Amino acid sequence: MPAVSLFSGAGISDIGYELAGFRFHVHVELDSRRAAIGQKNFPHSSWLVKDLREARDEVVSAYRGKTDDQLALLAATPPCQGMSSSNPSRGKRKSPKAKQYEEKNALLLELAPIARALEPRVIVCENVRQVRTHTLTREDQEQRLLDILDEQLPGYRLFETSVNVADYGIPQVRHRALMVLVHRKEPWLAGLEQRSKLPWPRPTHAHEPASGQKAWVSVRQWFKALKYPRLSSRSAEAARDTHPLHFVPHYDADRYLLVRSIPPHTGRSAYENDTCPSCSCRPVPSGLAVCPACREPMRNRPIVMGETRPRLIKGFKSSYRRMRSDVPAPTVTTNSSHIGSDNKIHPWQHRVLSILECADLQTVPRFFDWSAAFESGRTYLIRNVIGEALPSYFTYLHGQVLRCLLEADDSVYPKLACRE
Ligand SMILES: C[S@@+](CC[C@H](N)C(=O)[O-])C[C@H]1O[C@@H](n2cnc3c(N)ncnc32)[C@H](O)[C@@H]1O
Repeated sequence: MPAVSLFSGAGISDIGYELAGFRFHVHVELDSRRAAIGQKNFPHSSWLVKDLREARDEVVSAYRGKTDDQLALLAATPPCQGMSSSNPSRGKRKSPKAKQYEEKNALLLELAPIARALEPRVIVCENVRQVRTHTLTREDQEQRLLDILDEQLPGYRLFETSVNVADYGIPQVRHRALMVLVHRKEPWLAGLEQRSKLPWPRPTHAHEPASGQKAWVSVRQWFKALKYPRLSSRSAEAARDTHPLHFVPHYDADRYLLVRSIPPHTGRSAYENDTCPSCSCRPVPSGLAVCPACREPMRNRPIVMGETRPRLIKGFKSSYRRMRSDVPAPTVTTNSSHIGSDNKIHPWQHRVLSILECADLQTVPRFFDWSAAFESGRTYLIRNVIGEALPSYFTYLHGQVLRCLLEADDSVYPKLACRE
């Protein structure tokens, strides 16, 4: 089942498809540091470390140089900053930054000429959910990006959905758009449509499980099962374990106090710390940076020393907040080590999550080779690539159903999602 990957990153999502029986022959990734990690994990593949817009022909010839077999899978996971809810210029279409993002959003369309040349049997694209409503301006008309893609690939039937990976037993809430384009010549396409089935797996877990489903896996269940050695941000020594990926940033006394003061398992934020660390007066009303009783700074709240007096750092409801332990973890993002970002603090220990814990929440196989990041001294890059990927276990499940469809194995139908 030969495969090609576009916008490959470090190949974290590709590894799931590969474990399900696909074999990647070509990868395309602009960033050489991400590609260096990927190369170690897909040593048999040709890595084109290039801008895809300038490497279309090269992708086709690299694939043809590898095999005469028809391409089974083309996987494309373009960047999504332009549409992601974490993009501050989203919605401000006319700003220069937004224009730059607009170009990035159109990158999804780069797969079309490659697909027309290689005619893969199936194309899979993944992105943030907003991609499904995102529009581009074409000849003064706003047109949905996915409709443009559909128009450019008339030989394919486009299926699209939004998935939450927690619905597949992954201990993390992560909503993504999944697009699957099936070549109209595939003999099983008609059967799929007649049975009202869709080319991705049926959810097995739910927040409120229906019959035959299981409950979501909570972060507490997951962390307890994996038995991670305890870490603390109190000091450099306490912040590190012997496992090379199990370490966290350590903080100065005030920052550590801020984290330690959030009661474990409450899912509360440091803005809600209401006991004055100087005089123990409580409750100090919310919104104050200074204790009204002793006039000392509330050092266990997110504050900065302003010109004349301390003030609270502006933040969202989710900033400086512990993740809840009774539900799946929040989405693992590229900035998983920033305590001021959304729900980044460990549910009960006094720290953020380690790289190992983030990789496990993203179900990256433990055998994944990170040595390229260690060799270049860029371990922060591991957090970035982990936060950008569709979990490997999800792509493994998806790869299994795609492989059965491509092999015309009818036993797969009960495992497929149904059209509503
Ligand atoms: C969402 S990430 C892909 C994540 C990947 N699926 C994984 O599992 O690691 C998008 C990737 O596209 C790359 N990229 C951005 N623009 C590109 C371009 N013009 N050509 C090739 N790659 C590009 C980025 O460097 C980034 O690694």
